[in-house]
Amino acid sequence: KTVVLSFSGGLDTSICVPLLKERYGYDRVVTVAVDVGQPEDEVKMATDKGELIADRHYTIDATEKFVKNHIFPAIKANGSYEGYPMGTSLARPLIAEETVAIARKEGALAVAHGCTGKGNDQLRFDFIFRLHGYEIIAPMREMNLTREWEIDYAKEHNIPVPVVKDKPWSIDENIWSRSIEGGRLEDPAYHPPDEIYHWTTNPRDAPDTPEAITIEFAEGVPVAINGEAMDGISLIRKMNVIAGRHGIGRNDMVEDRILGLKARENYEHPAATVILAAHKDLERLCLTRQELAFKVSVDEKWSELAYMGLVHEPLYHALNAFIDTTQIRVNGIVDLELFKGNIRILGRSSPDAIYSDDLVSFDSTTLDQAHAVGYSVFFGLQARMIPKK
Ligand code: ARG
Ligand code: SIN
Repeated sequence: KTVVLSFSGGLDTSICVPLLKERYGYDRVVTVAVDVGQPEDEVKMATDKGELIADRHYTIDATEKFVKNHIFPAIKANGSYEGYPMGTSLARPLIAEETVAIARKEGALAVAHGCTGKGNDQLRFDFIFRLHGYEIIAPMREMNLTREWEIDYAKEHNIPVPVVKDKPWSIDENIWSRSIEGGRLEDPAYHPPDEIYHWTTNPRDAPDTPEAITIEFAEGVPVAINGEAMDGISLIRKMNVIAGRHGIGRNDMVEDRILGLKARENYEHPAATVILAAHKDLERLCLTRQELAFKVSVDEKWSELAYMGLVHEPLYHALNAFIDTTQIRVNGIVDLELFKGNIRILGRSSPDAIYSDDLVSFDSTTLDQAHAVGYSVFFGLQARMIPKK
């Protein structure tokens, strides 16, 4: 009896290995760690640990797929939830798919994840696992476990524990975003210590000199930094370093989870913050007023579906089709300045700009201003016609 476990090497998924045997009666546990661009030492830690404690371990590099199939669509959709650029939610469906692929290969009937019964991730994983017809085992939520219990259980089973009891942050990372929650952060009034952040400098300690950068977009996705063409992975990694040292892209917020629970969340996503700011700005130059106004609600709906991990919902595909149609004309460059946690757009240009300096210029007579006189007569007509009381 084989079960395939989606594995991060963290506390929850680590204790799942003995639990699946002792409490669920499986005799073979296969772990799958999916590399979605989290720091190399994290991937290595998951690989080493999986190889140590599981009967068979796989580490799958899905970073390229993640960027191409999930991050790029998110950029085109200005993907954000309650004001922050989504990260975890974008990667979960892919991690679930890669886990299912191994379950097929291993002939497993059940797949397991280490999500709690309080968060969003359980629903994102379950959706994909069920879609493919697998039985789902989720020991954390089924056994209603607490971290305290898990740490003791891990120690009893000689499983190395990566967190210590007084600093038990729950961290999720991928190339696009890093999220920190749990432990003392669960008190929304608690001021988080600087050490929770790894990708961003405290804006107070960021360089005193601003840094100017240029991002080039082709069909709505970034393709070059400072004139240097780059593949998506390299571009995002580079932007994380540049924007991170200027303290850009931290969020500390109270978030509404799918279940309705409010949760205190801390995020850092330097590249995402800069790229989305530049993308939104460029869209304003290239898309029509009608497209822009409509796309706000499309982006919002897209983000809601992506947040829930409902990437097989037909509406998700339909919205992507609309978004892709608009993005064909989102080409060009955006100049920005990064300084102590802030982004300032300096300028933008595009071969697809719906812009004419000749028409708009106060110094040009190409457009006869006298035409506006007639337009103005009808402008606001109904409001002016309301009888005065
Ligand atoms: N609240 C975010 C989301 O649902 C992040 C959750 C990340 N998980 C974690 N264990 N840090 O997308
Ligand atoms: C979890 O509950 O396992 C992590 C947090 C989340 O899913 O939101």
